[in-house]
Amino acid sequence: MKIEPAASIDGAIAVPGVKGISQRAVLLGGLTDGESEIRGFGRAADTEAAISVVRQLGVEVEDEGGETVRVRGVGLRGLREPAEPLDCGNAGTVLRLASGVLAGQKGRFVLTGDESLSTRPHERVAEPLRQMGARIETTNGGAPVMVEGGRLSAIRYELPVASAQVKSAVLLAGLFAAGGPTTVVERVPTRDHTERLLRELGVGVERRGADVSVSRVERLAPFSLEIAGDFSSAAPFILAATLLHGSKLVVEGVNVNPLRTGFLDVLGRMGANIAVFNRRTVGGEPVADLEVRPAELVATVVRAREVPALIDELPLFALAAGMARGESVVRGARELRAKETDRIETVTTALRTLGVRITSSDDGFRVRGVPTRPKGGGVVEAGGDHRIAMLGAIGGLVSREGVRIEGAESVAVSFPGFFDLLDSVTQR
Ligand code: S3P
Repeated sequence: MKIEPAASIDGAIAVPGVKGISQRAVLLGGLTDGESEIRGFGRAADTEAAISVVRQLGVEVEDEGGETVRVRGVGLRGLREPAEPLDCGNAGTVLRLASGVLAGQKGRFVLTGDESLSTRPHERVAEPLRQMGARIETTNGGAPVMVEGGRLSAIRYELPVASAQVKSAVLLAGLFAAGGPTTVVERVPTRDHTERLLRELGVGVERRGADVSVSRVERLAPFSLEIAGDFSSAAPFILAATLLHGSKLVVEGVNVNPLRTGFLDVLGRMGANIAVFNRRTVGGEPVADLEVRPAELVATVVRAREVPALIDELPLFALAAGMARGESVVRGARELRAKETDRIETVTTALRTLGVRITSSDDGFRVRGVPTRPKGGGVVEAGGDHRIAMLGAIGGLVSREGVRIEGAESVAVSFPGFFDLLDSVTQR
């Protein structure tokens, strides 16, 4: 796909519901003992993977392809051993969180995924779940992952990596664990969608300093949940409107959970012009509308402690840094290497193609920015990574010569309508 340079971004948009909340709602909905309604479901390949996995486990899901999905739960311990492996596709969140849920079920479950998911590190969830009493086998540390559910006991577990997926897997297993509460200790805070959703469902989740605890429950009651727009899907548009002179962009109804919006904080201190207004609470999560105007950016340093709150936006940050005055640095972001691709390498390669002066390090990158449009003109290889495809698209818009994206269709992993929506607000 060829992306031509743009003059500006103009318009008002809304983006699909938060991917991670959509996945969590489907998984938890399957464990309730009744019918749950999910509105604002963020339709994408990664969220549909959650639906197909729970269906394989015997959960009925009423889904007509719209924004509302109804899940008929089978009860806390009612998931049934499927005949075939559970295919999680590209979705790390589905594989990791489902592992936590299945650890508390009777039976033997095999979780598989695509090539990318198969080579990502899954011992990180296997380890604590084994400590709780489940039998788990990974395949050379990756997928397929075999989970044999058992009687679980509560543990206190300090996260060795700042990962919301690992935290969530342990907390979900904690719903089944005797001798509780189950506590996860996180030295660096990560997104708390699981904790918030459990609270919405009436489950007591306690936060004390670095400790997050959950106790065993007897049942989960069905729920009705509204999900707002995914900040990670809004982020490419926010960046384009910031970088292109004469832009004016409104994004309506975006989830602004502070553990997700590190990109706003970082862009803010670089000089971006982003107003956050109409703050409200939807489904136990903070939501707002955003208005973005263009700005000249200055370089900044992103440190390890900030990384989890913008982990999925660091590719876009690198592009922002490329057009900011001065040298920007990202440190403590080794986790980027464990994403859908090794994003330290794929971001560096993609941005070099555009003409950005970026060098990778073991745990981040260094960007020497210049406040003009990068040259562009090359081919960005998405490598099956939705976030790299979106980075390429915004890189093309703000460049002088545009770019070609190889594998642009991978945006469907999180945002199938991405290119159409981008087209609708792009002025040439
Ligand atoms: C996610 C957590 C993050 C993030 C991923 C979604 C989640 O991964 O990168 O896109 O839904 O909990 P880690 O928890 O592995 O950092």
